Amino acid sequence: MDGKLPACVIDVGTGYTKLGFAANKEPQFIIPSAIAIKETAKVGDTTSRRLNKGVEDLDFYIGDEAFDATGYAVKYPVRHGLVEDWDLMEKFLEQCIFKYLRAEPEDHYFLLTEPPLNTPENREYIAEIMFESFNVPGLYIAVQAVLALAASWASRSIEERTLTGIVIDSGDGLCDRKLYKAYSNRWPQHNLFHSVSSTRERDRHPPEQSLETAKAIKEKYCYICPDIAKEFAKYDTDPAKWMKKYEGVNSVTKHPFTVDVGYERFLGPEIFFHPEFSNPDFTIPLSQIVDDVIQNCPIDVRRPLYDNIVLSGGSTMFKDFSRRLQRDIKRTVDARLKLSPKPIDVQVVSHHMQRYAVWFGGSMLASTPEFYTVCHTKEDYEEYGPSICRHNPVFGTMT
Ligand SMILES: Nc1ncnc2c1ncn2[C@@H]1O[C@H](COP(=O)(O)OP(=O)(O)OP(=O)(O)O)[C@@H](O)[C@H]1O
Ligand SMILES: [Mg+2]
Repeated sequence: MDGKLPACVIDVGTGYTKLGFAANKEPQFIIPSAIAIKETAKVGDTTSRRLNKGVEDLDFYIGDEAFDATGYAVKYPVRHGLVEDWDLMEKFLEQCIFKYLRAEPEDHYFLLTEPPLNTPENREYIAEIMFESFNVPGLYIAVQAVLALAASWASRSIEERTLTGIVIDSGDGLCDRKLYKAYSNRWPQHNLFHSVSSTRERDRHPPEQSLETAKAIKEKYCYICPDIAKEFAKYDTDPAKWMKKYEGVNSVTKHPFTVDVGYERFLGPEIFFHPEFSNPDFTIPLSQIVDDVIQNCPIDVRRPLYDNIVLSGGSTMFKDFSRRLQRDIKRTVDARLKLSPKPIDVQVVSHHMQRYAVWFGGSMLASTPEFYTVCHTKEDYEEYGPSICRHNPVFGTMT
């Protein structure tokens, strides 16, 4: 909007917070959603939040700095996508705004994101923090999946831009629960963690570094294969070609160490398609879940949904994720529709903005003039109170 400073866009995820200004292609900062506070500090009492106006205690660190602070306890305000501790969240946002974005909150509208099953109370809490503690002039709380769908437009032609689609948002702690119930997205990491910590390299780095090492290996070397049996055979025929060596540095002794990475490269992320590898209680592959969700939708939207299955979030970044998912969904659909006269197109959309799709969708939305017309304003807040944020002006519903 003319004369206005760009809106601040903040997507606080379970693992990482993406923050920056509207209209940019990438977030300015991606920091762990972690906060280090003095062990003695009193936090966690959400009921007292309303009395605790303003932010008095400045002795804390967020993001990567949180892990370096000694004598502090590291906490995560968000679990499985939902805010668990509002005092910590307020502190966390305070440093996001002042220290990272270096913004005066009174001068910017804000777009924050929420997971699919966020509660109206949570929206009120966030409104209270933003309007009362930070005095922002306007706030919009956007549904992450909708932003991710909009983000996929960046890689599509104008005719293909639609808001009818299904989003698979798999990040650090939450995969849209409606879609992917009970599947933790840290699984590939935990799967690897077990193999990493059981290798002979085990005593060459401290146990607390194992998860971090597994994560680095996961991001660097893992991929999705079309067929596990063939993949095993490939490795056995020519191990030198497929095995990798991860080189790390022991965080305590500072000595280098190495980890051999073999079958884990494809077995780690295979749990998206064979979840029982990790936990026998979960047996339904992701492709089947997507198919079930679409089958539960009204018949007239099923075709467009199969045609626009959009990926979002860091855990969808494994090489060939979209290809395998598309193939497996297609197989299920074709098997059911053997007699159908018209085949169903299945398209899993992988796109440039996938890693930070939610943030990027927010950045696009908040750079349009319409954004300012759908925001809740400070004046509304003062007149009606936090309950205004129960209402989403875009969908026109009370939730
Ligand atoms: N190239 C990659 N390959 C595989 N995994 C990756 C890659 N890059 C990042 N990740 C993983 O993505 C996860 C973080 O994704 P994202 O930032 O979307 O999560 P989040 O928004 O914090 O969590 P949530 O949306 O579940 O609350 C981490 O587990 C990270 O290891
Ligand atoms: Mg996320």
